[in-house]
Amino acid sequence: MTHKAWSGVFEQATDKRVEKFTESVSFDHRLYAQDIRCSIAHAQMLAQTGLISADECRQIEQGLEEIRQEIEQGKFPFRTELEDIHMHIERALTDRTGDVGRKLHTARSRNDQVSTDLRVWVRDAIDEIDARLVDLQKAFVGRCARDADVILPGYTHMQRAQPVLAPHYWLAYTEKLERDRARLADCRKRVNILSLGAAALAGTTLPIDRFDVARRLDFEGVAANSLDVSSDRDFAVEFAFVLTLIAEHLSTWAEEWILWSTTEFNFLKLPQTFCTGSSIMPQKINPDVLELTRGKTARVVGNLTRLLVLIKGLPLAYNRDLQEDKEPLFDSADTVRMCLELAAPLVAGAELKRDVIAERLDRGHLDATTLMELLIKLGVPQRTGHEIVGKLVRTALERGCRLADLSQEEFSAAHPSLDARVYEVLGPQAAVRAFVSYGSTAPAEVARQVEAWQRKLSL
Ligand code: ARG
Repeated sequence: MTHKAWSGVFEQATDKRVEKFTESVSFDHRLYAQDIRCSIAHAQMLAQTGLISADECRQIEQGLEEIRQEIEQGKFPFRTELEDIHMHIERALTDRTGDVGRKLHTARSRNDQVSTDLRVWVRDAIDEIDARLVDLQKAFVGRCARDADVILPGYTHMQRAQPVLAPHYWLAYTEKLERDRARLADCRKRVNILSLGAAALAGTTLPIDRFDVARRLDFEGVAANSLDVSSDRDFAVEFAFVLTLIAEHLSTWAEEWILWSTTEFNFLKLPQTFCTGSSIMPQKINPDVLELTRGKTARVVGNLTRLLVLIKGLPLAYNRDLQEDKEPLFDSADTVRMCLELAAPLVAGAELKRDVIAERLDRGHLDATTLMELLIKLGVPQRTGHEIVGKLVRTALERGCRLADLSQEEFSAAHPSLDARVYEVLGPQAAVRAFVSYGSTAPAEVARQVEAWQRKLSL
């Protein structure tokens, strides 16, 4: 029977089924590096404040370093009876150093230890995801010069609406990812607060220095209320939410590109290295990476829901329920990281089918709104202009032609101020050139923004 760290009060050994039910080491072993780092900082503070000696601190540091290597070399024995990674590492240290190791848990509870380890893990995960977001932004912005002159139909309600420059599409996604980055940075501020020193829930009677630990671990602040921080998983929920929004953005992009790569749209050729075939239909080249990016969003949404339901109604302070926070959080971070890692090369490697797009760009009267705005510029009230152009579109629809194919006489009949100038705004190319507003798809505006992004991303 394995001796438990808490066995003093117990007269009977734990039921094996309970050990299996309550263990977390099968998933929290991922926190080993964070646990060792935080334990070293904790030990150094204990030495600094005289709670352990400098020599004891050295032995602890050395022992923990050896344990780290053992874990990394795959030589470390994991046992269900020891519950979690924290108990494993402490036990291994005690096996090496005896009473010295038995001092490491001075002024510390697993409650604040787990929370601190997890905060360090989330902080690292945020930095990692942020770097992947930048990679994806670079892939989108990197396409802009190549696709500068491509005009795509813009859609609302999935119906052709107005012409849009391809780089305007790419920058739309870049902006969404930029908000995701800002949300990560904001979330990081609340993650980056030290919980250690809250001990079990009320703090400690021992003369510790939490600010010293915070400095050693690069935390920006120290949690002000031990009771609050022992029960706090807001930071985990926030991170899971930001990850969910990233997954939603990727899912929108994936859906759009799945449509664009269909025979029906035929706007896009995906790199074959990112497609898979069918086991029965020899002709198939399927966009599975995009489909799974869309599909895996379900997991990420589910994980957020799991965390929200997990903390609902938990009384202060620590409750064992909180052990259930790690799997959904790890899964969301892993999933989003993987999706981002595949998205960047996929975005860079796809080809717009310029000829196919151009050939069909005249369908859908993408220039109707531009024509209406010409009427407004000529002094016609918007509602009147809308009606006039609506009727012209009806004529074009009946004839199966473009607005630009209607005659000068037809335009003048629709409104006396419509002279030869109409042809200057008709057709998707002219319509795109007619835009002027800030943030619009006006070529000069898009070029300015592409340049700003290229500078920002050092491209
Ligand atoms: N393995 C647990 C977790 O990850 C740690 C248990 C902490 N505290 C306790 N009193 N049982 O949350």
